[in-house]
Amino acid sequence: MRNSRFAGRLPYRRPLPTVVIGGMIAVLISLVALVSCARPAAGGSGEGPGELVVYSARNEQFVDPLLHRFAEETGITVRALHAGGSAVNRIVEESRNVQADIFISNDVGALEYLRMGGHLQGFEPEGIESIDPRYRAADHSWFALSARTRVLMYNKDLITDEAMPQTIWELANPTWAGQFAITRGGNGSMIAHISALRYEWGDSKTAQWIAGVMENAGAIMQGHGDIRRAVGGGEFAFGLVNNYYYHQQLLEPTHNNVGVLYPDQGEDEMGAVVNAAGVAFVAGAPNAENARRFLTWILRPENQREFSYASMEVPINPSIEAVGEAAAISNYKVHSMPLDRLGEVFEDTREFIERAGLALELR
Ligand SMILES: [Fe+2]
Repeated sequence: MRNSRFAGRLPYRRPLPTVVIGGMIAVLISLVALVSCARPAAGGSGEGPGELVVYSARNEQFVDPLLHRFAEETGITVRALHAGGSAVNRIVEESRNVQADIFISNDVGALEYLRMGGHLQGFEPEGIESIDPRYRAADHSWFALSARTRVLMYNKDLITDEAMPQTIWELANPTWAGQFAITRGGNGSMIAHISALRYEWGDSKTAQWIAGVMENAGAIMQGHGDIRRAVGGGEFAFGLVNNYYYHQQLLEPTHNNVGVLYPDQGEDEMGAVVNAAGVAFVAGAPNAENARRFLTWILRPENQREFSYASMEVPINPSIEAVGEAAAISNYKVHSMPLDRLGEVFEDTREFIERAGLALELR
């Protein structure tokens, strides 16, 4: 059972035992979640390259192969905690006794929220100029590597591109009742999307949109993987997802007659909402030198590429071509909100969504 998801694929060692913090509080980090990915240390004398502790909110299957390769190339022992949505709170809670060196996130809001709270530190890694300033903190305490765009993925057997709603606002229109699926309110991409809508529309129009969409949605699902399968399988004409789910569905052996629509592309329209996945340097990182090494390493073009390609997202660095036929972010109109604004509303939007009546979790 242990690590069965990786059996035969990745050179995993056994999970580490309980981590004792501060000599007082034993924090039981999930043994399944905490993995070690380095070769056995040569001497075991306590010297050598040491370790790197990575907290990740990103899908584990996208992150682990990269971390394994870093461990192999450097000899540094990488310990990864896949903490999902709780990674941010954990970093905040541990600020007086910092455990993490690096944080990996799918959401610029989470990265900027930590920076604003003083939980990150700056650094000038080699290669940082390959990332557009729009996608990094001014002090480089976080930088994004791959973009994810909110799109409508549709089933071509059920609807044509022309017949599809062309804007996100239209999902609140009763015309579409029962025809589409969305995720629960607590999904990170949904939260960031609604933050962008608040920025564009203000709170009352956004609340109105949420109410309309809830009324119309044929299903409110746990995650975007559920939506892409349901749309591919013909349960709904379309779904609101991140763009890479479309590319994932195309790879399915069946149920892959799907199309993608980038919404709000008209002249007066807001543009598609983009978010990004990236990495951050935790303030007070116990293994700061190894963290700097990792940040420099991840900026090497081949590693940027792998970071994006693992999830079929689109690289932010324009010199790295997009995976398959994915549209580069320069190919469509993107919403103008500076991404770091997501940090200011990171906590608030969750409450806003709940107040508007969309449950954060499925019951
Ligand atoms: Fe996702």
